Amino acid sequence: MNRKDFLKVTASVLAGVAVGGSVLESCKKSTTGPQGPDVNFTIDLNDSKYSALSASGGSVYVQEVIIARINDFADGYIAVAQTCTHQGCTVTYARGSQTFVCPCHGGTYDLNGNVTAGPPPYAIKRYTVSRSGSNLTVSG
Ligand code: FES
Repeated sequence: MNRKDFLKVTASVLAGVAVGGSVLESCKKSTTGPQGPDVNFTIDLNDSKYSALSASGGSVYVQEVIIARINDFADGYIAVAQTCTHQGCTVTYARGSQTFVCPCHGGTYDLNGNVTAGPPPYAIKRYTVSRSGSNLTVSG
């Protein structure tokens, strides 16, 4: 093999590695699924914008996060991302069934954020919620 042939073979191999790496990276992304945003905010439960949280089953949407009042949970609140882990559609809280529901392909999640039906591959992102007086802090 002369120098010119050697360079052609080397270039082909390097191009193959680059494409393979790109494919692997693409596969890696597809197995992690969409994730919710990183947040750290506090709401005042006395603010009328959040009055839905005064009763069990009520929910509000803040910064792409669903906050629901669930008396069975510690502090009585749960917060999860609105981003479905399947293809990123917007999830809502269904009070009657106490589930988080994605309208795009029928994905559902339980109150812990675990998948209960449909194509979502992973649990929905769940946030830490802490209450101090009338302040509710959501982070994660
Ligand atoms: S995007 Fe939510 S189930 Fe497909």
